[in-house]
Amino acid sequence: MCGIVGYSGPNNSVGPIIEGLSRLEYRGYDSAGICLKINNELQILKKEGKLDNLKSLIQEKKPFSHIGIGHTRWATHGAVTADNAHPHGNELFAVVHNGIIENAGALKKELQKEGFEFKSQTDSEVFLVLLTKFFKESKNVLSSISKAFSTITGNSAFVIIEKQSDKLYCLKRSAPLVVGDNKETREAFVSSDPFALVGFAPRIYFPEDSVICESSVNSSEVTIKFYELNLTPSNRYKIQGNAMSVDITSKGPYEHFMLKEIHEQPYLVEKLAAYYIKDEGRKILDQLVNFKTDCWHITACGTAWHAGLVIKNYLEQINRQRASVEIASEFRYKNPIINQKEIGLFISQSGETADTLACQELCKESGISSFAIVNVEGSTLYRNSDKNFLIHAGIEIGVASTKAFTLQVLTGYLMSRSMKSSLDDPKLFIELKLLSTRISELCSESDKIKKIAEKIYHQKGFIFTGRGKYFPIALEGALKLKEIAYVHAEGYAAGELKHGPIALIDEEIVNIAIIGPELFEKTISNIEEVKARRGKIVVIGPDHNAEIEHLSDAYLGLNFEGLNDLSPLYVNVALQLLSYHIAYLKGTDIDKPRNLAKSVTVE
Ligand code: M6R
Repeated sequence: MCGIVGYSGPNNSVGPIIEGLSRLEYRGYDSAGICLKINNELQILKKEGKLDNLKSLIQEKKPFSHIGIGHTRWATHGAVTADNAHPHGNELFAVVHNGIIENAGALKKELQKEGFEFKSQTDSEVFLVLLTKFFKESKNVLSSISKAFSTITGNSAFVIIEKQSDKLYCLKRSAPLVVGDNKETREAFVSSDPFALVGFAPRIYFPEDSVICESSVNSSEVTIKFYELNLTPSNRYKIQGNAMSVDITSKGPYEHFMLKEIHEQPYLVEKLAAYYIKDEGRKILDQLVNFKTDCWHITACGTAWHAGLVIKNYLEQINRQRASVEIASEFRYKNPIINQKEIGLFISQSGETADTLACQELCKESGISSFAIVNVEGSTLYRNSDKNFLIHAGIEIGVASTKAFTLQVLTGYLMSRSMKSSLDDPKLFIELKLLSTRISELCSESDKIKKIAEKIYHQKGFIFTGRGKYFPIALEGALKLKEIAYVHAEGYAAGELKHGPIALIDEEIVNIAIIGPELFEKTISNIEEVKARRGKIVVIGPDHNAEIEHLSDAYLGLNFEGLNDLSPLYVNVALQLLSYHIAYLKGTDIDKPRNLAKSVTVE
């Protein structure tokens, strides 16, 4: 979603702001802007479209300023136009915003009645106008910020600069926001993501909700102060070093981050296995030995929800424990039945997905413990959980999640195994190593998958099918394809096809059929039905099978031997590569697909 970067210090703020915004580009956006305080005036430059458009404008104007805020906008209220892009400013303040002001419509009407004018259709400008109104009444910036923030509803993060001082102010409610400083260089920063501040701010502050942060820099020091909304000093924030390195932003030899991240999987699988079985992670899993709960309430969104579906199978089949998996945006509003001996399990790469966080809140209010399978250490989900199971995927830049899915499922698998029997079982480590090897083989056979893509990329629609443990993989395969190739794709349980979706089948539709060694004959019957209706058949199934060879238009033979419960992950990597090659042939923006954001911090 929207990216935010702010700077205050002795240097030109344009450099760190634009560098920070570039690093956040992967999250998805549709316009960009910057506000700089120059000669005691707030000057705003905004452009629709890519950050490059803003960069060209900056190149032309060559502004210099010691304080500024920048923003990449992912439109929610109001079309994608330069007027609706952030920052929004007036003669007193400039503001950037990430989130949604839910009562913006009503507030705007009231403010208009009072004579205030609006330049954009955004909800964000409502905050600016409220702030201005309260400031005109009180002449006090902090109390005006507090009052404006208390007037609005919904989850949001704001950064504010003002004409009369060189201070950066920020605050948030259930939206990501961090503050950074560098005491040596006397610089202060604000961002929606610590990644934007790597190499700039060695120290990162994580304010809690409704804490106002005021950063100021003078000739001898940088000062960061925190206040509650009643303006008393606050200690509701955490401090952490920023250990990330800028190198992680490089694509290496790969053309896209998505491809790089797919190829990282063999190494990451082994690394995670070593972490949880042999190294420090073992202590965390050992706490689960003999752990039992009446029901696991798993909630997540998108790919993470698909990971939840695979993990549910593990909990039910390996542990015989009940698990419900729900889409977070549904669970939060359904008045769920939650009993005391149950556990909330939240799965999220970013740890900032608004709906997933809301489910966590709900479970906490119901008095049950909250476990998280999460990638970003220090994220909101991480900080609010009773137990965290980190997936150690490293930063995932491709908007389409690949390695995070694999490691989420693997973490769930190891949790499930640790509840069942000793992780010292040498077979477990061998099985994980085998998964890594098979994924590596798949990556090196990527050309084979490319050839399949060449046969089908121009087709109108794609139906992914799978049974049992491959059903979530069919859903995930279809999601990946639609995200990056912009084609219609759906995932179905193979047996469900004849209950409706089969009406779609004709020669323009491809059935990507996942056939595991289990329920083989039944799944074969399903593809016969598609073939009879002239649909194209691509099979991902056991290798060297004459029957499949005969039935399919294209066939990727896989070696399932020895993978057991991990085979869905193996199949999924084949589908990741297939989607990648189809999207490549279609010429889409693979790493930053249209309309998508890497972390969805609004509901
Ligand atoms: O950060 P999260 O794992 O909570 O994100 C959840 C979904 O938004 C995410 O998985 C989304 O579906 C991806 N774009 C899938 O590739």
